[in-house]
Amino acid sequence: MHKVKTAVFPVAGLGTRFLPATKAAPKEMLPVVDKPLIQYAVEEAYAAGIRHMVFVTGRNKRAIEDHFDTAYELETELAQSGKQALLDLVRSVQPDDMLCSYVRQPRALGLGHAVLCAEHLTESAPFAVLLADDLMLGPPGGQPVLAQMVEQFERLGNSVIAVQEVPLDHVRRYGIVAGTPNGERLLKVSQIVEKPAPEKAPSRMAVAGRYVLTPAVFEQIRCQPRGAGGEIQLTDGIAGLLASEAVHAYQYAGRRYDCGSKEGFLEATVDIALSHPEVGLRFRDYLKMLKL
Ligand code: G1P
Repeated sequence: MHKVKTAVFPVAGLGTRFLPATKAAPKEMLPVVDKPLIQYAVEEAYAAGIRHMVFVTGRNKRAIEDHFDTAYELETELAQSGKQALLDLVRSVQPDDMLCSYVRQPRALGLGHAVLCAEHLTESAPFAVLLADDLMLGPPGGQPVLAQMVEQFERLGNSVIAVQEVPLDHVRRYGIVAGTPNGERLLKVSQIVEKPAPEKAPSRMAVAGRYVLTPAVFEQIRCQPRGAGGEIQLTDGIAGLLASEAVHAYQYAGRRYDCGSKEGFLEATVDIALSHPEVGLRFRDYLKMLKL
């Protein structure tokens, strides 16, 4: 059985919900406390044993490439002034055994199309997809979410997608799955639809932005018509897989922050700040002091 060696990060989106912050800077570079969103996702993939990171980028995304590259002037300066801890911090962003590839998505045709742009870099092997907008934290002291999913994938041998239950009036924001229970936290998927109206939704089980997929999904995406919103949807590619392969939905342990929305971004910022080794205690005191 193939190991999951590649992670695909679709990062070509415009981030209109964060304008003007995202006018010239990629939304994936917005920092939650002291790390850009994309770094949380890359670290999650690395913790799941993945070493090849593939970024599907677009115009105005140079900062992402620079972030995962050597920062020559900065590193020289830090080395010369003896700031070893900061130098180590800067260098830790790209561990020596991590390989980064970049491919451009020339037109905004949808998430399925973005993933298809990475096909030639995935070696016809199973791969992960991480949407950096969804900041995922594993349970305290437990495994990060993608590592949980890779473990399930290695046991089951078929695609695994992360899901969580959402209120009925939120189903139109997500891919929604229906299926039959097949072990702890697992559903064998029988149906998956992108952004259904509440009255048409087959359940309230919503896809979070983490997937481990078999390469057969590429052929599905290539052949499918445009879906919800006129876009080439990853959800439809996964629906196409169901005819020939089992797909499992996995109710991950941990928490998801929708950092594509201002509220989710603020919640992530507060929670991560509270457990931050450097500022956590003082920030807690500050919050307690607020007369809300
Ligand atoms: C995408 C997927 C959707 C999934 C969601 C998770 O939608 O198309 O199926 O539920 O991510 O965040 P987007 O948020 O890009 O509209």
